[in-house]
Amino acid sequence: MERFKITPTVEGEKVTFKNPSPEFYEAVGGEEGMRKLMYSFYDLIYESDIHNFFPQEREEFDKVKEKNTKFFIQRCGGPKVYEEESGGTDLNEYMIHVHDDFSITEKARIEWLGCMREALTNYDMDEDLKLDFWNYVEAFSKLTVNQFPEKRSNPYF
Ligand code: HEM
Repeated sequence: MERFKITPTVEGEKVTFKNPSPEFYEAVGGEEGMRKLMYSFYDLIYESDIHNFFPQEREEFDKVKEKNTKFFIQRCGGPKVYEEESGGTDLNEYMIHVHDDFSITEKARIEWLGCMREALTNYDMDEDLKLDFWNYVEAFSKLTVNQFPEKRSNPYF
């Protein structure tokens, strides 16, 4: 049975989520552990079907990787190392805003989550706490989806 489940994004539906717990942050190994997990995740992204969303140049890609890691460090209860990027705006709102510049479909979200699932599977830590983090990204990622298939007015076509 698949441990890390993905539920579909429904256009216009309110997304609720819980931030990862302090227990997760401790179990992952704090700042260094988070960096290890996120770097391995981003290495999978670089090889994935959604790599074209990201900078192709390795140096630029590594910058995104580090920014993203800082976000997760802060979001998971670590030091506020991402604060300057968001310029004081609410972190969640800022995250939605960042992704607005890209046309993110449900398919892209599933690919992103697939990389995260693989990174978590390969990471050695308490399994229940992995799920706590997964539940956060699975739900929160719905807020990054901004491209939906067009609704047809005639249901037979
Ligand atoms: C839980 C869900 C997600 C979180 C928390 C998240 C977080 C982030 C963060 C922190 C950044 C860096 C922003 C900055 O400071 O410039 C970022 C950038 C980005 N994310 Fe996400 N992301 C999520 C889901 C996704 C998904 C599903 C996609 C699908 C393609 C995606 C695509 C991108 C792209 C293209 C960028 C910009 C890269 C660039 O600067 O060139 N993200 N994301």
